[in-house]
Amino acid sequence: NSVPPPSTAEITSADEARPVRLRHLSALPVPRWVNALSIPKIATATSPDAYTLTLQPGRHDFGIGGPTTPVWTYSDGTPPSYLGPTIVARYGTPVRITWVNALPTMLPFAQEEDHLPTGAQREPMAAAPFGDAVTHLHGGHISDLADGGPTQHFSPGDSRQVDYPNDQEAATLWYHDHAMGLTRLNVMAGLAGAYVLTDPYEQTLNLPTGAYDVPLVLQDRSFNADGSLQYPERWEPEFFGDVAVVNGKAFPFLDVEPRPYRLRLLNGSNARFYRLSLSRPKAGKVTLQQIGADGGLLPVMNPTGRLLIAPGERADVIVDFSAFRGQTLTVTNDAATPYSGKPDKAGGTPPLPELLQFRVRNTAPSAVSGTPPTPLRPLSEKLSLQQAVVQRDLTLNEVLDPQTGLPLRSQLGTLNPDGSAHLLSFDDPVTETPRVNTVEAWNLINNTVDVHPIHLHLVQFQVLDRRPVLRDAAGRVTGYGPALPSDPAEAGWKDTVRASPNEATRILVRFDRAGAYVWHCHILEHEDNDMMRPLQVLP
Ligand code: C2O
Ligand code: CU
Ligand code: CU
Repeated sequence: NSVPPPSTAEITSADEARPVRLRHLSALPVPRWVNALSIPKIATATSPDAYTLTLQPGRHDFGIGGPTTPVWTYSDGTPPSYLGPTIVARYGTPVRITWVNALPTMLPFAQEEDHLPTGAQREPMAAAPFGDAVTHLHGGHISDLADGGPTQHFSPGDSRQVDYPNDQEAATLWYHDHAMGLTRLNVMAGLAGAYVLTDPYEQTLNLPTGAYDVPLVLQDRSFNADGSLQYPERWEPEFFGDVAVVNGKAFPFLDVEPRPYRLRLLNGSNARFYRLSLSRPKAGKVTLQQIGADGGLLPVMNPTGRLLIAPGERADVIVDFSAFRGQTLTVTNDAATPYSGKPDKAGGTPPLPELLQFRVRNTAPSAVSGTPPTPLRPLSEKLSLQQAVVQRDLTLNEVLDPQTGLPLRSQLGTLNPDGSAHLLSFDDPVTETPRVNTVEAWNLINNTVDVHPIHLHLVQFQVLDRRPVLRDAAGRVTGYGPALPSDPAEAGWKDTVRASPNEATRILVRFDRAGAYVWHCHILEHEDNDMMRPLQVLP
């Protein structure tokens, strides 16, 4: 397949209003700004660089002003917490983890046993049974045996030992459940945690460390009156909760010193996108200095007033609070749901407008550095289209229910020679079969009205460009328009990329390890309902 040359033909839009999606409303009024942000504890090793993490049920206090909540979590032997403990790894030092499944076979919230809708159920491969789990290291450069892909789930009573080589640049990775057809449920239950990889280069940059290096895992949840998580008992196209949960606390606050902080933002929500700003009352937005994205540091710092972060994505920012002594700053969000790329899209539900507050102490600023240099970290390799031995035209599709107009399922696929989409299920034979150590260009053609965060296992890739899709009267793809302006937030390594409606998002990927992996949409309801495909890197 090859990319049709840019054309000046008329651009038709696939955008259209959609029925309003449900937003799940909590049964109790959840207080704001009364919970101190908790920082997930650092995982305790059993021996140097070896961990045993047990998936087990527990109860967690989200600070919702009601009963505690039954959850599932990862325990390192110390009292379990929600989220799982943060694993801190160093470049060049492998980490060994034994994942022990001690889950019950009932979820901690109500769910129909037959939990995918008729017509949407995957055949012949059904979802794993409740209680099965498998942990994937998102963004990790690892062997397929250790990857924790969807078919590698295992049952309560079993365990698996994996090795992560840590042979990639310093980055904020994360681990989360990936069991076939259950990912949305197991992650909703609590199976996620941060994995922070450091390296010597990063340490020369004099970035804020220790208590000044704060992971912020963003999730949205809804709660029943008894404190339990509220999640639809039947499958819905996306889940949107009405409570912002950061590091496991509802609408929390963090007291900060008037000095620079490093904030590692991770969108661990099932489906919600965030367009984040840091706002001062009546004084507008604070500039965030973005230093990193999914796969590590950016080549140059990206000063921005607004950060868009889709499920699965990470953004690493420096905020200098020294100019805001005694003030309260609020992390705000204005992304509509589902996210179309257009903030005011009809059919989107209202955003979760406020997530978190920073209260800056009114003390004298300490004399600290923490302003990172520019350039930050040159790309270890700048990939070019000329290197690509294969260009693949791939499609993002939704199968709509003719009655409701809502998606019955989402599917990836290829592009037929006539420009129509060829939809594929997870069980269809593999079509993406790059040769090891070659570079490919993937053109992600979004035929839907939603933005989909597309994630590839194994690799970190580069965004080449985005182009409007040109179509004939029947909607078939005839070519691409000129490249849209690029986003400096995406100038570094990515493992998850937002593909917007009616655009071709082109990425360049070097597949540097043979094995059986997957690629998928990171909206977990989409992933579970067939927006996932095998990826076989050939030797
Ligand atoms: Cu974060 Cu395949 O997932
Ligand atoms: Cu992943
Ligand atoms: Cu999707």
